[in-house]
Amino acid sequence: MSTKDRLLERLKAARGSWISGNHLSDKLGVSRAAVNKHIRTLKAQGYVIESATRKGYRFKKAPDRLLAEEIRQGLDTRVFGQKEIVCFEQTDSTNQQAKVLAAQGAAEGTLVIAEAQCAGRGRRGRRWYSPPGSGIYVSVVLRPAISPTEAPAITLMTAVAVTQALLDLTHLPVRIKWPNDILLNGKKIAGILTEISTEMDRIDYIVVGLGLNVNTPPQSFPQELQETAGSIRTETGKPFSRLALLRAILISYENCYDTFKTYGFDSILSRWKELSDIIGQRVAVDVMGTTHTGQVADVDADGTLVLKTEQGLLQRIFSGDVRLL
Ligand code: BTN
Repeated sequence: MSTKDRLLERLKAARGSWISGNHLSDKLGVSRAAVNKHIRTLKAQGYVIESATRKGYRFKKAPDRLLAEEIRQGLDTRVFGQKEIVCFEQTDSTNQQAKVLAAQGAAEGTLVIAEAQCAGRGRRGRRWYSPPGSGIYVSVVLRPAISPTEAPAITLMTAVAVTQALLDLTHLPVRIKWPNDILLNGKKIAGILTEISTEMDRIDYIVVGLGLNVNTPPQSFPQELQETAGSIRTETGKPFSRLALLRAILISYENCYDTFKTYGFDSILSRWKELSDIIGQRVAVDVMGTTHTGQVADVDADGTLVLKTEQGLLQRIFSGDVRLL
């Protein structure tokens, strides 16, 4: 743990009481000047810490930001949230930044988080609306020992992990919509973008990006998203802690990823099917301007939608936009 993190831990542990600069410098084994410097950094990050001559320092409040030290504190995971966490006030796309780090050798579990994205990417070349401070925009580096053909399972696994975390923490009726959207009351509140780098027949790295609209206010989505997009706040009328949600997602992610590696993908696919409720439904699927209608017969392990058409034929659809009929 860094000196700054240890300092923060001590300030928080004092539960609103004053701690002198001398005491902190003794306990941390650093100079008074170093304590001062770290306090200034913490204040610049948005922590509210009171300082008074002869009294020392008193912790008041953590900022409403997704900061590495806040994410990690007491987080009961082995990998996710325990490796490098790179936090941006604003970046182009956390997936883009995570890919750069992964190409430089970043370890599995490395996280890239932004308060805002100016070029957030969605599936099929779309943009992901990423205003500051109201959503979770996070990407993780994975290095699973699987073949590239198994990689789509990672996206399905991510949808299960995130949906499960939301269910556990909020008890709201969140569902997965094929392929990997997460809906609340029929509004899309989250999306997942998986990008893969392969070498010959092995995976070099996978970057999985999650965009989750948490406190995005009503009416603030761009016009073209007004009908379809929502946030947890627009659907419940209440603000939620982004930090608590992200921590729950990291715990759930570690569980799902471990299950995936130990027992294979089948157990996760069955949970995906339960959480999506799509099997047997009549749907219309728009695929690049063409609409296919029918009943969903199955979803394969690679995420392919198997549609039983009106003519009774089985049609496999790899990518598209689904509407329930
Ligand atoms: C989709 O539903 O189209 C996928 C959206 C994925 C958005 C997230 S936000 C964090 C990460 N960085 C990106 O640029 N995109 C993903």
